[in-house]
Amino acid sequence: MNVNGEHYETIWQKPDDGAVVQIIDQRALPHRFLIEDLTNYQQGIHAIRDMAVRGAPLIGATAAWSIYLAALEAQHTDNPDLFLADAAREIADARPTAVNLQWAVDRMLGVVMEIQDPSRRIEMAHNEAKAICTEDVHCCRQIGDHGLELITALSDEKQGAPVNILTHCNAGWLATIDWGTATAPIYLAHERGIAVHVWVDETRPRNQGSQLTAWELAEHGVPHTVVVDNVGGHLMQNGQVDLCITGTDRTSRNGDVANKIGTYLKALAAKDNGVPFYVAAPSTSIDWTMTDGRNQIPIEERSDEEVKFINGTDGDRIRRVRIVPENSAVKNYAFDVTPARLVTGLITERGVCVASETGLLELFPDKFPVHGR
Ligand code: MRU
Repeated sequence: MNVNGEHYETIWQKPDDGAVVQIIDQRALPHRFLIEDLTNYQQGIHAIRDMAVRGAPLIGATAAWSIYLAALEAQHTDNPDLFLADAAREIADARPTAVNLQWAVDRMLGVVMEIQDPSRRIEMAHNEAKAICTEDVHCCRQIGDHGLELITALSDEKQGAPVNILTHCNAGWLATIDWGTATAPIYLAHERGIAVHVWVDETRPRNQGSQLTAWELAEHGVPHTVVVDNVGGHLMQNGQVDLCITGTDRTSRNGDVANKIGTYLKALAAKDNGVPFYVAAPSTSIDWTMTDGRNQIPIEERSDEEVKFINGTDGDRIRRVRIVPENSAVKNYAFDVTPARLVTGLITERGVCVASETGLLELFPDKFPVHGR
């Protein structure tokens, strides 16, 4: 995707120094576009934990590149295998909800632990991290193609009037390597000249909607409007939303969807108003081992500081101000789980399916452990 007309992905190797991985520091957006260097795996963990990078697919990719950085560091230690295994555990623990994190760490370890020769190990770690990124771009693009069919059908029904799509949090290209998950169909529709308009939920407390989704849509010239989190129900009651598309951090094999806090309320409002509610779910975000997401997906609780303080700009400087009384207690659940019964369908890289074990089995028989089960 483009920033000031220049193509960027969200994570890459520094062109003149292969031992450095570079990321866009999402904490500074939309006010500043900053590139940050990661030179060791601890910095990768910090970037994930502090949300310089965020979004399930990008968290997975950052974990993969962090294993590559750990492989570089491991060659200078007495026990490289132990160093790598410890690093992998720490990386996997950086955040709990996005399943892509553990998935990427397992995939990287499966490759690097097979090889003892240090330079070959580094080469393989590099190749695997790169492959994870390339596959993610391809996967998002396929989600885009399948989601585009839904938007096209609605556009035809509306005889070309803008299709109003509501999204929550940021499941855009900033949450992936490129394209995004929920936004891929939107970008493709826009590219094809189909009129779309996006309702962007602000998404308190970290404001991924107003600070990231709005920024990327603006960079691409996609018509959009930012609304505070409580507006969605009102919009749906008044016929102003044709379609909801969100992303997911972990979807269990029965189709329950963990996503940014507040997603569940949007799904309830959509159900009550007959608005289709789709989740863009790459297979890397599906936890094939988990049968009951509602009760099994770990929900991250983050610092109360994220609720008590808010960042903004006064035009010159970025300021952080407190918006909650100093002594009030605060809870900060980062995700919720939308039960499968509220999800109209999952948009995956292999097509759209019902949010259920049967639906997923039809598209992904190879992911179900024994004879497709
Ligand atoms: O806490 P974050 O910003 O990492 O959470 C990301 C989300 O919940 C997004 O909504 C997204 O859909 C999942 S990643 C495509």
